[in-house]
Amino acid sequence: MAYNLLKGKRGIITGALDENSIAWKVAEKAHEEGATFVLTNAPIAMRMGEINKLAEKTNSKIIPADATNVDELTNLFTQSQEVLGGKLDFVLHSIGMSVNIRKNIPYTELNYDYYNKGIDVSAMSFHKMLAVAKKLDAINEWGSVVALTYMAAQRTYPFYTDMADIKAMLESIARSFGYHYGLDKKVRINTVSQSPTKTTAGSGVKGFGDFYDYANSIAPLGNASAEDCANYCISLFSDLTRMVTMQNLYHDGGYSTTGVSNEVMTKLGVE
Ligand SMILES: NC(=O)c1ccc[n+]([C@@H]2O[C@H](COP(=O)([O-])OP(=O)(O)OC[C@H]3O[C@@H](n4cnc5c(N)ncnc54)[C@H](O)[C@@H]3O)[C@@H](O)[C@H]2O)c1
Repeated sequence: MAYNLLKGKRGIITGALDENSIAWKVAEKAHEEGATFVLTNAPIAMRMGEINKLAEKTNSKIIPADATNVDELTNLFTQSQEVLGGKLDFVLHSIGMSVNIRKNIPYTELNYDYYNKGIDVSAMSFHKMLAVAKKLDAINEWGSVVALTYMAAQRTYPFYTDMADIKAMLESIARSFGYHYGLDKKVRINTVSQSPTKTTAGSGVKGFGDFYDYANSIAPLGNASAEDCANYCISLFSDLTRMVTMQNLYHDGGYSTTGVSNEVMTKLGVE
C-alpha cells in the first residue's frame, strides 16, 4: 500500500546491485511513494547489468560513480540535480565492502591495505558524499540522508572483523556531519542498523547462514527483511520524521535489546 509519502521529492539511491540488495527495495518503495531519483553504483558493478532492470521499472536514470572518488561524486550530485530538475530531498548510502572479510582474514591479522580500502569504500565515502552535497548546496532544507549500518559497531561479532570498526566510523560521521549540516541547512543525517539480510554483501560474512538463524531466534519479531528496511528508510526520507537526526536507529525486530530468548534457551537444552 502506498501513501504518497515522497510525492514531489527527488533523491539519489546508491548500492542497488541486484534484486536482493536493500537499496533495490528502497528504490522500488520510493518509486511507489511518488519520488523521482537517480540510481548509482560503482562503474564495475554496472557490468552485471541488473541495475538497468530497476532503472526501467522505476523510470530512473543511472549515473555511475565510485563512491571513493570525489570528482565522480561531484559529477553525480551535479548531474542528478539537472536530470531531476532541482535540488535533492533524500540520499541513501547503501555501500559496504571489506576485502579482509572477502578473503576470510581474521581480525587480529588484518591486511592494512585492505583495511584502508574498506574504510574508504564503506565509511569515508559517506563523508565524501555529504561534503560534496554540502559544497554544491545540493540538498533542500529538511532533506534526509540515511546510511545503512550493523550492530557490530556497538557489540563484538568476531567474524565481522574490520567492518565492525568501519561501521562505528560510519555512525560517527552521521552524528558529526549531522551537527554541521543540520545547523547550516537543516539537513538530517541518520544511520539505520539493520538485521542480517540475505544479500551479496551480507552473505559474504563467514558463517552468515547460522548467524542469520541465530539473530532470528533472538529477536522477538524475527529478523527484519530488506523490504521492511526499505519501508523504514522511506519513513526517514518523509516529512513525518522531520526532527529525527544524528541517530543510529535499530531496525532489527527487537534483537539489539534482547538478552536471550526462550527459543535459544530451548535450543541449548535448557528446560
Ligand atoms: N546484508 C546485511 O546483512 C546487512 C546488515 C546491516 C547492514 N548492511 C549494510 O547495508 C548496505 C547495503 O548492503 P546490502 O546488504 O544491500 O548488499 P549489496 O551487496 O547488495 O550492496 C552493497 C553495494 O555496495 C556497492 N559498492 C561497493 N563498492 C562501491 C564503491 N566503491 N562505490 C559505489 N558503490 C560501491 C556494491 O556495488 C553494492 O551495490 C551496506 O552498507 C551493508 O553493510 C547489510
